[in-house]
Amino acid sequence: MSALAVGVIGTGMMGEVHARLLNDRIGSARVVAVSDPDTERRRMVAEAVGAAEFDDPMGLIAAPEVEAVVIASPDHSHAGFAVASVQAGKPCMCEKPLATTVDDARLVVDAEVALGRRLVQVGFMREFDEGHASLVSLRRSGALGEVVAVRSTHVNPAPWAPGVTAERVITQSMIHDIHSARFLSGAEVEAVSASVVPFAAGSSGVDDGAVRFVAARLELVGGAVALLDVNVSSAYGYRVVAEVVGSEGTARTSEGSAVEMWSSGARVEKVSANWPEHFSAAYLTELTAWVSAASEGGVTGPSAWDGLMANVVAEALVDASTRGERVEIARWERPAVYER
Ligand SMILES: NC(=O)c1ccc[n+]([C@@H]2O[C@H](COP(=O)([O-])OP(=O)(O)OC[C@H]3O[C@@H](n4cnc5c(N)ncnc54)[C@H](O)[C@@H]3O)[C@@H](O)[C@H]2O)c1
Repeated sequence: MSALAVGVIGTGMMGEVHARLLNDRIGSARVVAVSDPDTERRRMVAEAVGAAEFDDPMGLIAAPEVEAVVIASPDHSHAGFAVASVQAGKPCMCEKPLATTVDDARLVVDAEVALGRRLVQVGFMREFDEGHASLVSLRRSGALGEVVAVRSTHVNPAPWAPGVTAERVITQSMIHDIHSARFLSGAEVEAVSASVVPFAAGSSGVDDGAVRFVAARLELVGGAVALLDVNVSSAYGYRVVAEVVGSEGTARTSEGSAVEMWSSGARVEKVSANWPEHFSAAYLTELTAWVSAASEGGVTGPSAWDGLMANVVAEALVDASTRGERVEIARWERPAVYER
């Protein structure tokens, strides 16, 4: 079988990571087309992988030589490109979040339901992380008993953009943890509340009103709870730790690095500097699984439905953080194409 011909939309940090992994590490794929309004970055990535350059991302999706699409452009543009991929009948790997609003995410789900099958895989790569996948296997095996709680801590080294608001922290960063709460517990969310800690007034280099920490409490159908927190600015590096508390046992992803060091009266273990380092293996596993499924004309892993549900919870959390109140979430009927 010939290598899957992939077009990449958005050649920023994440688009470049995906393009290089597809081209250099996955023998069954090659990047044939890239599109980005930043012509310098586009050229750099096109030359690195030997791809053609497209001015118009919709033209890339429609191009007959492009068999499958990776969407790594800014969040607000994802849903439109994902709908176009579905309507062109081409499998796509759409970076998280699926959309920035519930209404936009719903358009993607509606497009797949109209088609009658899935063509969108959402970039919630933690499903492909060894530690997170082990937690799911343990939960499914029954070894932990009934799920009582899920905990997740998500630590960024520094704000990723100026003036980061609670809405951006929740929709861009905590959206990963929201998805983790759902796939680690196997339950949907029925109510949320949130607490937000801003940077102290006058913190150097930080805009007024920028958010430093968000804590969320998700009430899950069946009675369990998920406790999630995102630290925007740890000043020490990047960390993600997830834990499933069960009635018969508790399991947690390991923080351990390969090496411990004893120095200056302390024992230290290295912390990842950033997300590409921490989840490098997960991104490769995610793309390998996508290429394998897309070569057969389909997709696997997190679905547009998962993307929509994450947006539903994120929107409720933004509302809860703004109003300082508990917000209930209506039940959604899952279409048959999303039965796993
Ligand atoms: N899964 C993860 O862990 C993870 C990590 C980081 C980023 N992301 C997601 O990946 C996406 C890209 O993030 P990034 O960090 O690479 O951002 P980035 O700003 O580095 O790159 C975005 C690129 O998209 C280009 N762009 C802007 N509008 C476009 C359009 N209409 N069509 C095509 N390209 C367009 C920009 O010029 C830029 O080069 C975001 O949605 C982000 O949330 C996911």
